[in-house]
Amino acid sequence: MEVVVKKDYDEISKLAAKMIADVIKSKTKPVLGFPTGSTPIGTYKELIRLHKEEGLDWSKVSTFNLDEYVGLEPKHDQSCYYFMWENLFKHINIRKESIHAPNGVAKDIVAFCKWYEDEIIKTGGIDVQLLGIGGNGHIAFNEPGSSLGSRTRIKTLAKETIKDNARFFKTSDEVPKYAITMGIGTIIEARELILLANKETKADAISKAIEGPITAMVPATVVQMHPRTTIIVDKPAASKLTREYIAEPRVLKTTKTN
Ligand code: GLP
Repeated sequence: MEVVVKKDYDEISKLAAKMIADVIKSKTKPVLGFPTGSTPIGTYKELIRLHKEEGLDWSKVSTFNLDEYVGLEPKHDQSCYYFMWENLFKHINIRKESIHAPNGVAKDIVAFCKWYEDEIIKTGGIDVQLLGIGGNGHIAFNEPGSSLGSRTRIKTLAKETIKDNARFFKTSDEVPKYAITMGIGTIIEARELILLANKETKADAISKAIEGPITAMVPATVVQMHPRTTIIVDKPAASKLTREYIAEPRVLKTTKTN
């Protein structure tokens, strides 16, 4: 597990985008896992810039999104699908059929979740999974208490999450109460994890995720078990860490592998 502390949001975003771009360039059929939320927006902006200005090619890339609110159509302006379309996909040359996201209006959610898991495997598995972190330590919509071995399924959102996400809706009553989310067990099967956090509001969750004991009560602590995790945080998010961390990740030489 590498913990990289950067000066600010701009620097964490650029580093995460560079690491993702390196994966895209090193694979013939790259498979990427993406989160929504405010944290990855800077990374997506930089990935768009790399496409427009430096020719980063997305034509062979497949993506899987972490989660979706139950009851929201993809075209709903607060759905995770809409977020991804507006903030990344519509700006790059990805094939629409290579974009995968949980279907919040699936009639049979259990069958859909099984299909989603199978689809990840059929596509070759996720090469790099980008993650944000909730203020309560959740990853995707795996709230505290989620099994560390959980798979894609429906979850009830925690009160804190509904409160945190109310900023995106007109009132907190409009925030959906359920979501479909990749499980923690699903997430850690990705070949590489990048966990991103900025702002002091994440300092507690980051200190527990990195320096606390592994526990289902802080789902992000599971990244400690992954052999290839990079946690990239800005100084405010790192403010409650007690050990010294590095400012640059190890340079990993990549070669075409699939
Ligand atoms: C959301 C998402 C997570 C995200 C987290 C943090 O509810 N389900 O994938 O990482 O909360 O969001 P933000 O980046 O806006 O702080």
